[in-house]
Amino acid sequence: MCGIVGYVGNKNAQDFLISGLKRLEYRGYDSAGIVTISGDNKAALIRAEGKIANLEDKVAKNKRDDKIGIGHTRWATHGEPSEKNAHPHKAGEIYLVHNGIIENYKELKKTLKEHKFASETDSEVLAALVESFYKGGKYPLADAVVQALKLVKGTYGVAVISEKNPDEVVVARSGSPLVIGVGNGETLIASDASALVGHTKRAIYLNDGEVAVIKKDSIEVKTLNAEPVSAKVEEIETNLAAIQKGGYEHFLLKEIMEQPESLKETLRGRLNVAEGSVRLGGPGLSEGELRKIKHLIIVGCGTAYHAGLLAGYYIEQFTPEITIETVIASEYRYRQAYIPEGSVALIVSQSGETADTLACLREIKRQGVKTIGIVNAIGSTIAREVDGGTYVHVGPEISVASTKAFTSQVIAMVMFGLTIAQAKGVKSTILKPYVEEIAELPEEIRRTLEDTNEKIAEIAKKYKDYEHAIYLGRDTAYPTSMEGALKLKEISYVDANAYAFGELKHGPLALVDDRFFELALVPEGALYEKTISNIQEVLARGGHIIAITNTDFDLPVENVVRIESQIKIFAPILMNLVLQLFAYYTTVAKGYNVDQPRNLAKSVTVE
Ligand code: G6P
Repeated sequence: MCGIVGYVGNKNAQDFLISGLKRLEYRGYDSAGIVTISGDNKAALIRAEGKIANLEDKVAKNKRDDKIGIGHTRWATHGEPSEKNAHPHKAGEIYLVHNGIIENYKELKKTLKEHKFASETDSEVLAALVESFYKGGKYPLADAVVQALKLVKGTYGVAVISEKNPDEVVVARSGSPLVIGVGNGETLIASDASALVGHTKRAIYLNDGEVAVIKKDSIEVKTLNAEPVSAKVEEIETNLAAIQKGGYEHFLLKEIMEQPESLKETLRGRLNVAEGSVRLGGPGLSEGELRKIKHLIIVGCGTAYHAGLLAGYYIEQFTPEITIETVIASEYRYRQAYIPEGSVALIVSQSGETADTLACLREIKRQGVKTIGIVNAIGSTIAREVDGGTYVHVGPEISVASTKAFTSQVIAMVMFGLTIAQAKGVKSTILKPYVEEIAELPEEIRRTLEDTNEKIAEIAKKYKDYEHAIYLGRDTAYPTSMEGALKLKEISYVDANAYAFGELKHGPLALVDDRFFELALVPEGALYEKTISNIQEVLARGGHIIAITNTDFDLPVENVVRIESQIKIFAPILMNLVLQLFAYYTTVAKGYNVDQPRNLAKSVTVE
């Protein structure tokens, strides 16, 4: 949440800051700002409410050729989205941008009598606190930042500059990501490596409790306790094409359509179809350790949580003597849950930065339980802190609503389940059908997207004015329906909720009337007849049903989307594509911002 950028070098700082903020806009987009400092110590602070485009207009009218600066795109926590609450915040001669939450800001504020507060933010308190140690340049900026951070409770990624030192930026992190881009005669800062793509391929990922003094040709990293750190320079693998729309109108549609390819990346080198087996190197568990697993805790938020739920349904189908508990990270972190012997935790996160998921990871690790990451963002905090992991490798996901990550998270977790089953000696005749279908999925995903795309666009137009939707499924189609409802609500603002079909009679059936439409998932299989009976019950009460099925279906519902595919076990994955497209086209029909839905952000780095 919130994006941070910074620049020091020989080029125009404003240019990098604006282009970097645009790349990070998915992290928050209610206001933004930059400050640059000229060689003769004059700062230009420019801030604007709303999207980066508003800031860009203002900057265009105030062009400067400064070579150092910092910038920020905000997702409001303390104080409404407004220009005065936008970062950078100023205190004396220093300017600060902050990502995270200063939990003890009220107590700290009381001690900062000399500063006249201009905003309602916790971040300005931090700026004033730094200034109280900097004392107008009497002490080194880095020392002042360290003194201030030692008093702070909460999370932060910060970048600070001073009019007095127009050659250095001080950055630090605790709980919120910060990446330093190592350039030629320039050093760049970003809260996410995507802002650095095209500028440099070399990056240093700062760790919690580290602070760095950044100049155009030097980077000095230390801990808050002044111990020197020899920072590792890593390669940024992302290329420019991966973070551009590539001819699509929206990132969301691009990312939905990319799924045949992104899933192939997840599978690459990991399947042996002839043997019906799976090989994952990343988790780093021996056969013996895999055999001993009795309990899986799957932790995630939002879409990652739904992926965990769906994977759990699959894994228990073929893995003997195992219990699976999929949990919402923000809940689990405060529960007094008993973790039984033989547990392993799967930590699921596209961004690898979600604050609640990260907190669970740390707590679970503290209890001595092995943690395995199911992460997309390479080099992210979760990826670096887990004991082992399986990257999903779907490439950058930029639209706030997660799509391609979901599909690959489910399959990556199922593959992890298959490795446990293999180690436990489950017959390959049981596992092979799963492996075979997984191998076929990329092509079947491509076909399903192609076959259903136009029809779904038409259907979405018909239902665009409904304010309420009920998504229904049983078994593996139930978590799928939860994910579908989340997609619709987060981008098209339809009050969409999912229920297990069997729960209808226990409450939700009372809702059925002309204000609602129902999206029913009807996969072929053991529960088909029961699902049909449930749909009859909705029909009898005047429901407006869209059925999505991969088999014969002849009930008189309003619309049927039939998926033609030999995929059976993973049919819900194909149905989810239809739900993704449905949410996309509904949002387009309503004229809303597809990639940046109101009030949300992609990377939720505050709790
Ligand atoms: C936010 C995003 C969702 C995502 C969730 C968890 O809410 O908008 O798309 O599913 O965070 O994010 P993670 O990066 O941990 O998967």
